[in-house]
Parts: sequence; C-alpha cells; structure tokens
Amino acid sequence: MGRGRALRPPQPGVPLTSADPILRARGLVKVHGSGRAERRILDGVDLEVERGELVAIVGRSGSGKSTLLQLLGGLDRADAGAVTVAGRPVAGASERALSALRREEIGFVFQFFHLLPELDGEANVLLPSTLPGADGPAVAARGRALIEQLSLGAVAGLRPHQLSGGEQQRFALARALVGDPSLVLADEPIGNLDAAAGAVVLDLLRGIADDGRAVVMVTHQPEASARADRVLRLQDGALTPA
Ligand SMILES: Nc1ncnc2c1ncn2[C@@H]1O[C@H](COP(=O)(O)OP(=O)(O)OP(=O)(O)O)[C@@H](O)[C@H]1O
Ligand SMILES: [Mg+2]
Repeated sequence: MGRGRALRPPQPGVPLTSADPILRARGLVKVHGSGRAERRILDGVDLEVERGELVAIVGRSGSGKSTLLQLLGGLDRADAGAVTVAGRPVAGASERALSALRREEIGFVFQFFHLLPELDGEANVLLPSTLPGADGPAVAARGRALIEQLSLGAVAGLRPHQLSGGEQQRFALARALVGDPSLVLADEPIGNLDAAAGAVVLDLLRGIADDGRAVVMVTHQPEASARADRVLRLQDGALTPA
C-alpha cells in the first residue's frame, strides 16, 4: 500500500466534545437547472441533530428531501451553506477528506438502493469489510448479523435483480449500517416494506439512535414519523417543525 493511502488515525483531527451536534447544517442552498428552468430547491436549510436523536423529514414529492439528504451526506455539493458531521466539514471538503468522512461516520440508505448488480446481497453488505484498513472480520460478522436480523439469510446469495424491492431495501440498509456509522441518513427506508418488515427496520433505526448515534430519515409513512423524536417538514425550500 502506498503512503498516500495511509489510514487516518482513529481520532478525527477536529476535537470533539459531547456538546457537538453530530450533524449541523446552516443556510443550505441548492439550485437545479439554469436560465428560465432554474429552480431553487433548497433555500436556506438549517438543521441540527444531536446524538441520540431520530429525526424524520417529511414533505411533498419533489420538495427536495432526497436532495437535502445527499447534501448532508456529502454526496452532492451545495451552492451555499455549510454542513459538519461530528465536527468535520462536509461542504467544502476535498474529495479525499469527504470519502474518509463518509466511510468513518456516515451510513447512507438510498431511496433507490444502488446495490452493485454484479454482487449478491451478502457481498454488497460485506463490501466495506474488504476495504483497506477495515477490521474485516469484525465488519463481516456485523454484516452477517444484520442479514439475519433483517431476515435476509435465505436470499443472501441472490443478486439484486433476483431480489424483491423490499429485500433490496433491507440489503441497502444492512450495507449502510455495517460500518457502525455515527450518523445514518436514510431515504424512505421502509418505502417498499410490509408492516412487519417495516417494524423491524424502524426498531433497528430507533435502536441506533438510542445507542447514542443519530438517524435522519426521510419518510412518507406515519408509522415511521411516529418513532421519531422530531418531525420536520421540508416546504418551499426550508425546514419547519411538522
Ligand atoms: N440533477 C437534477 N437536475 C435537475 N433537477 C433536479 C435534479 N435532482 C433533483 N431535481 C429536482 O429537484 C426537485 C427535488 O427533488 P428530490 O429528489 O430532492 O425530491 P424529493 O422530495 O426527494 O421527492 P420524492 O418524495 O418524490 O422522492 C425535483 O423537482 C427534481 O426534479
Ligand atoms: Mg426522494
């Protein structure tokens, strides 16, 4: 391994105190399109999430919920504003710092799953265990436990195109959780699940928050909002209490 790929020390460079919110967003602006087609999807979003919190974000289709989650997770760049996760900057970070931050602190559950098509379900979940510097055996053990917890053992050898939407959704969740992130960003995590499977996922997310980590979930489902500590509505480009 080259020196350029040396791992960061386990303690991030920015000193943390328990008073730091796990997530802080200030004045986030996101504009899509240009010219006459220009639309200001996010127009000054502020959000602070503390460790221990499960926060639900609701809002109409097209209101910008997925856009916001992607900015919070460093998957897209804001046009203005700042985001920090565990005291580390997201907006404005270099690609390299950002990928370290995502790997170390953030678990992202995509609305449309984004499982790797050539890998089976288990391999998708265990992928982070193969990354340089990962504690492979520990990550793999956690991945297998998540697969069992989410009732995916019987289909773990199937590839995404052979899985139902709900199974893909649960594999995507397991993949997001396998690295033991301190912040989970989940886009409609029970959107494709029946009541029983949805309840298992909500228990899991609630447990992560109760454990001193934090979850921000976008949802349309009242049973999901009901488990949240706070429900915020994204409307006209801003967040307000729902
Ligand atoms: N890359 C892009 N280029 C242009 N417009 C975009 C782009 N991505 C998103 N948008 C627009 O931004 C708006 C918000 O999209 P977003 O996916 O954030 O909505 P959402 O609240 O997650 O909706 P849903 O509940 O349907 O998932 C939509 O009108 C969408 O068309
Ligand atoms: Mg969306």
